[in-house]
Amino acid sequence: MKFRLFAVAALMIAALCGCSTSAKKNKTLVFYYSQTGATKAVAEELQSQLGADIACIEVVEPYNGDYAATVARWRREREAGVKVAIQPLAVDLDQYDTIFLGFPIWGGTFASPMATFLDDHSLAGKTVVTFATFGSGGIDSATADVAAAQPDAKVIKGYGVRNARVAKAPAEISRFLIENGYVEGEIAPLPEYGEAVPVTDEDVAVFDAACGDYQFPLGTPVTVAKRSYDGTQDYRFDVKSQTRDGGEALSTIYVVVPQGGTPEFTQVLK
Ligand SMILES: Cc1cc2nc3c(=O)[nH]c(=O)nc-3n(C[C@H](O)[C@H](O)[C@H](O)COP(=O)(O)O)c2cc1C
Repeated sequence: MKFRLFAVAALMIAALCGCSTSAKKNKTLVFYYSQTGATKAVAEELQSQLGADIACIEVVEPYNGDYAATVARWRREREAGVKVAIQPLAVDLDQYDTIFLGFPIWGGTFASPMATFLDDHSLAGKTVVTFATFGSGGIDSATADVAAAQPDAKVIKGYGVRNARVAKAPAEISRFLIENGYVEGEIAPLPEYGEAVPVTDEDVAVFDAACGDYQFPLGTPVTVAKRSYDGTQDYRFDVKSQTRDGGEALSTIYVVVPQGGTPEFTQVLK
């Protein structure tokens, strides 16, 4: 009885704080943590396109919205090995066999509150499809970390988007869900990238237009592979950069030039 009262109270609190869940039984749950709203926007789009339930993680002492202050607190907590306290879940995970698990990328992996959740809850036997928002990238490494944290779940890399491009998410999510069979529908497959060839001055101009104003230096493009469809041109650059200790690092940077639009930096893979 006590537990029931607690569960009802938790559901009411969740509804009041904008982190809602539906009472209807549904096999798919969109479950996320978002500090400044980018991941929340993606989660809500996924919920709407999937027709799924939705719930989120609330931190006991929320991070404030200031980027520098959050980075400073996150660093302090990481160095001290602090496990960030989260509120009891307002959802019964047992009802779901597929969970779309979303988070912002912090330090190249899932944000600390998601780390607490993954530490405290088992997703054994479930299919977990990750999604993430980020300044530059990190969903691949974060997905590998989710798989390591939940070895008995089937963890699949899902949809990732830079926070600067969240407005593009609805169309990209629609393609992602159809291509991967999460919703029914038909969509023409995208062509393969061509062969990687040395960059021309024109390619470098596209790279600079897309990446030049990013807050950290992203390196120098060396080779590029391209593909085009429906007036859109995709670029996959191989990029060289310097590590802090003076060594050389290689990364892959994706850029899209939409029809009639300007170059957009979509993601870096390291
Ligand atoms: C503490 C902290 C660390 C971050 N680390 C990374 C990072 O390693 N790579 C990255 O691309 N973005 C990083 N970001 C940017 C966030 O991933 C990005 O702003 C995200 O979209 C925020 O999502 P939210 O609005 O749902 O909280 C970091 C942000 C914070 C606050």
